[in-house]
Amino acid sequence: MELKFPQGFLWGAATSAHQVEGGNVNDWTEWEKANAERLAQEAGQKWQLWQQEQFPEMFKPENYISGRACDHYNRFREDFDIAKSLGHNAHRFSIEWSRIEPQEGKFDEKEIEHYRQVILALRERGLEPFVTLWHWTNPVWVRDLGGPESKKFPLYFSRYVKYVVEKLGDSVEYWCTLNEPTSVIVNSYQRGNWPPQKRSFLAVQKVYKNLAAAHNLAYDEIHKINSGTQIGVANILNYFEPQNKSSILDKLALKIAKYYSNEEFLKLTKNKHDFLTAQYYFYNKIKFPSRINNKAEVNSDMDWGIRPEGLYYILKELKKYSKPIYITENGLADVKDDRRADFIKGHLKWIHKAIEEGVDVRGYFYWSLLDNFEWDKGFWPRFGLVEIDYETLERKIRPSAYEYAKICKNNILNI
Ligand code: FCB
Repeated sequence: MELKFPQGFLWGAATSAHQVEGGNVNDWTEWEKANAERLAQEAGQKWQLWQQEQFPEMFKPENYISGRACDHYNRFREDFDIAKSLGHNAHRFSIEWSRIEPQEGKFDEKEIEHYRQVILALRERGLEPFVTLWHWTNPVWVRDLGGPESKKFPLYFSRYVKYVVEKLGDSVEYWCTLNEPTSVIVNSYQRGNWPPQKRSFLAVQKVYKNLAAAHNLAYDEIHKINSGTQIGVANILNYFEPQNKSSILDKLALKIAKYYSNEEFLKLTKNKHDFLTAQYYFYNKIKFPSRINNKAEVNSDMDWGIRPEGLYYILKELKKYSKPIYITENGLADVKDDRRADFIKGHLKWIHKAIEEGVDVRGYFYWSLLDNFEWDKGFWPRFGLVEIDYETLERKIRPSAYEYAKICKNNILNI
């Protein structure tokens, strides 16, 4: 069967500055230095035996230091050549705030020039840039002021955004202000796993409010400079199902979880979205009060279950907003590359079904173009369409990338 996608559909992959560029200095790099030893020691308790055996790098502290990462900062042209050869017509990446404004109020024109070259390199290859302005990392001075917990965060963020958009706005049509605000809220301020490792109900409330305010202010700033541009937030949306379908308590737990993870941020930023997004990784079964199980028949190297149909249900729910929708991330860690092609096709099949039923989906970005630095997990999870040899930095296109390329080039999924 041939499933045809709408004309002009954006096909590509996503990356983020901190995970691929190398050579950054920000709140995460500082945290990595302070925590690498501990993370290596804890790997034995965190991961299952098969994962420990398959990925012994997790026991080494250097796994947890982003360092030179993929050196994409210097090799972006080579990487975009690969994306082009794979039939992509769009690419999502992020601008690193700590490069643009390394000290409060001191903006670095050289770094703007760098990203101008990045955008130009994409355009020269026929790739539409989809630009994220904040993919979790903060300049150290922003961290010292309290990061997103600080009342000042929205002002500082929107000032940085204004600077970037004044300089680069002419060549960018799509901006994502923030990446996955709720992931930061949960992992940094509720569970305490990511910097600044808090577990505070009050901090959660503050960060929710400040990140929403940051988006709202940035949205207005961008539109003041360029009214025709398209702005959104790159949101993670999880699918939830009650563990026991006849349990009222499980259904109640579902409602609460769904509200905080998928709905509240959209509510706080209402009317400030030109498009909506979905970053889909999790099909969660929830048991009261909050136990979550996302395993499936087939799972990724991180043991995240693969359930493509969850994305369809999420898209159907977004239909009511009547906005264009982009899948700004969807992917899996799969070092053997024996599940990736089916993963992509499976999700695209369900996306296509949603489109047929009237959902206005306009693009898909696989996470990720390259293997990269997966935050507190480090380098062992392999998400890339392209494999990176971290010793030599050699790039090797995985077989699944060619399968995805066929779809991108023809705008058709054959199943
Ligand atoms: C998403 C993040 C992205 C990457 C993938 C695996 O939540 O936005 O940076 O880590 O997960």
